[in-house]
Amino acid sequence: MTKLIEVQPGTVGKTMPTKTFRLKHHLAGHPLFQLDRLARLAASLPADSVEFNGPVLPGQDPRLTPSNGLSAEETVRRIEECRSWMVIKNSEQDPEYKALLDACLDQVAEQTGGVMGGARRRQAFIFVTSPNNVTPLHMDPEYNFLLQIRGSKRMSLFDQKDRGIVSEENLELFPGKHRNLPYEEAFEAKATHQHLMPGDSIFVPLFDPHWVQNGPEVSVSFSITWHTDTSEKLVKLSYVNAGLRKLGFPQAPAGTYPVLDGIKVAAYDIARPIYDAVKKFVGDRRKAVALFFGKTAVAG
Ligand SMILES: [Fe+2]
Repeated sequence: MTKLIEVQPGTVGKTMPTKTFRLKHHLAGHPLFQLDRLARLAASLPADSVEFNGPVLPGQDPRLTPSNGLSAEETVRRIEECRSWMVIKNSEQDPEYKALLDACLDQVAEQTGGVMGGARRRQAFIFVTSPNNVTPLHMDPEYNFLLQIRGSKRMSLFDQKDRGIVSEENLELFPGKHRNLPYEEAFEAKATHQHLMPGDSIFVPLFDPHWVQNGPEVSVSFSITWHTDTSEKLVKLSYVNAGLRKLGFPQAPAGTYPVLDGIKVAAYDIARPIYDAVKKFVGDRRKAVALFFGKTAVAG
C-alpha cells in the first residue's frame, strides 16, 4: 500500500506517547479533503457531528461564542470569506473516511514498534477554518495525530504538568464541561510553537493544552485520535477526580497513589453504566449530573 504517513527517523523515543513529535504525510490534495467533498460530508452527518462558529479568541468565553448564521454545508462552501471555524466530528461515520483513518493509524502503528497498543477507539475529526481564524486553548482526552492538509497553522503547545498554565481542576473532565481553558498572553513564553504546512503532522499527547492560530489562507486539518489501556485509565481517573472534587473531596494528580488510582478506575467501571442508565431514564445530562453530584455540580 502507498505510504500515507511517515514517522521520521529518530523522532519517536521511549517518551512516546507522552511527548510531541513531528511526522510527514501524503494527504495534501487528497480528494476526500476537497471543499466540495467536505461540504457533502458535513451535510450528510447528524447535526451534532458538526460544530461551527464565527471568529473567536485564544481565551474565548464559551458562553459568548458567536454564531456565523450559516448551515454546516454553507459554512464549508463559503469558508474563504465567512470568518468561521468548523469541526466535522466522527468523520469515520462515512466509510471512505473510516478507511483512511484506519490506514493512517495502522501505518503509524507499524512504524512505531507497538507503542500505540492497538490504537483502539479510533476517531477522525476534520477542521475547516477561515483565514486567520483561531482555535481557543483546550486539551483533548485522547492521543491525536494532527495532519495539516491545506493552508498553514501555528500550534502553541503546553506541558499539562505546568500548573502555571492549567490548574488541576481545569485538567479534570466532567460531563458537560466546555473544552475551552483560561488563557493569558504570558503563557506564550512557555509554549512549544509548532508551525504546520501541508504535508506536516504533529503528535499531540493526551491532555497537553494547546491553541491554534491559522495562517492567511483557508485551512483544512485531519485529526486522527486513538486510545491505549493507559489513556483509557487516565481519562476514567480524570472523571472520578472531578466528581470527587464536586462532592468536596479534591484529589491528588494521577500517579500519586497508584493503588487508589486503580480503585477509582474500578469504581468508574461500576458507576458509568449506572450513570448512563440514569441519564437515559431522566432524559437529560444535567438532571443526571444533579442526581449524582448535587445541583451545584451542573455545568455547561
Ligand atoms: Fe485539540
